[in-house]
Amino acid sequence: MNERKNTKLIDRHDRRLNYLRISVTDRCNLRCTYCVPPDRIPWLSHAEILRYEEILRIVRVGVDLGITKIRVTGGEPLVRKGVIEFLESLSEIPGISELTLTTNGVYLEEHAERIRAAGIRRLNISLDTLRPEKFARITGSDVYDRVWQGIESAVQQGFDPIKINVVALRGMNDDELVDFSRLTLRYPYHVRFIEHMPIGKSRVTATPPLLVPEIKARIRPLGELLPVEKNADDGPAERFRFKGAPGEIGFISALSHHFCSSCNRLRLTASGQLRPCLLSDRQLDLKALMRAGCDDRQLAQIFQQAVRNKPSDHNLAVNDPTGVSCQMSSIGG
Ligand code: GTP
Ligand code: 5AD
Ligand code: SF4
Repeated sequence: MNERKNTKLIDRHDRRLNYLRISVTDRCNLRCTYCVPPDRIPWLSHAEILRYEEILRIVRVGVDLGITKIRVTGGEPLVRKGVIEFLESLSEIPGISELTLTTNGVYLEEHAERIRAAGIRRLNISLDTLRPEKFARITGSDVYDRVWQGIESAVQQGFDPIKINVVALRGMNDDELVDFSRLTLRYPYHVRFIEHMPIGKSRVTATPPLLVPEIKARIRPLGELLPVEKNADDGPAERFRFKGAPGEIGFISALSHHFCSSCNRLRLTASGQLRPCLLSDRQLDLKALMRAGCDDRQLAQIFQQAVRNKPSDHNLAVNDPTGVSCQMSSIGG
């Protein structure tokens, strides 16, 4: 990788922004309680979301400036028509060293083979309970078995690692922390407990929030958590494993321990906004600019403006509303 290219997206706090997370749709086939409010928010219309060609153009500009890692998210990315072909096109862009996907797993079984063939090696799968009836309560759909079949297909296809994202919710899945952790004793999964971020509207009301120190204490009976060294491309998770375990436990402490100083992300929302920070509603409108006929140099300037505007920290705190009004499903987490 050309070093000069790589220095174009360094912000005022010396953070090298080389990771673009792309939400390809705000739509989802599930309605998780922490993500979808009771008065369901209307989905964006087809005209409002970026076309694949538009996303690919933005990615090429980003890669030219130093983006090397791409994550495709949603909503649920696998509900968008043509997404597999889109992943294939993304993987052909020279300069992307890592292409990953976050999915709820429902459509994974039928797509795992092609996703793997498109060059995606790692997958993050959301799964907040190991109990089918509770899965139906959390997500509004009785499709737990399909998600497990999806995970098993991913194993067969050789995705490595397979990360299982568990949003930790008091009164909802806090009785399963040990069961999830125990999975890592038998399987090579990376189970990650994520502190719930109060973003947008949701149906989560239980307080106080379930934070990482409490989760660590509750799984302690399974053994000592041995730290796993982070590598340069790691996301926000703090990594551990139990002695001799094939899998890992990760903790994403969005509330209890901010990790902004090492943040390397920019986000592209489903509606074509470049978002410098998950937890700030400040966004730059790439879609309007593109649809008005801008050239690539102007797109690059927006990237550089986003980098200049990236906040140093967020003020998300325990028991404090974020003030983030966008829904997680349109930002992509
Ligand atoms: P990798 O570490 O590259 O596997 O990705 P990831 O953990 O960032 O991706 P994933 O889509 O699985 O997200 C897991 C959780 O981390 C979600 O709840 C995200 O919202 C959260 N997350 C990801 N990036 C950030 C971030 O920059 N800030 C905060 N506060 N949360 C983040
Ligand atoms: N707080 C923390 N994580 C969340 N996710 C969705 N909404 C929230 C939230 N409010 C998770 C999903 C998915 C990942 C992209 O973000 O479960 O695994
Ligand atoms: Fe869909 Fe993910 Fe939101 Fe659940 S958390 S409703 S799977 S976008």
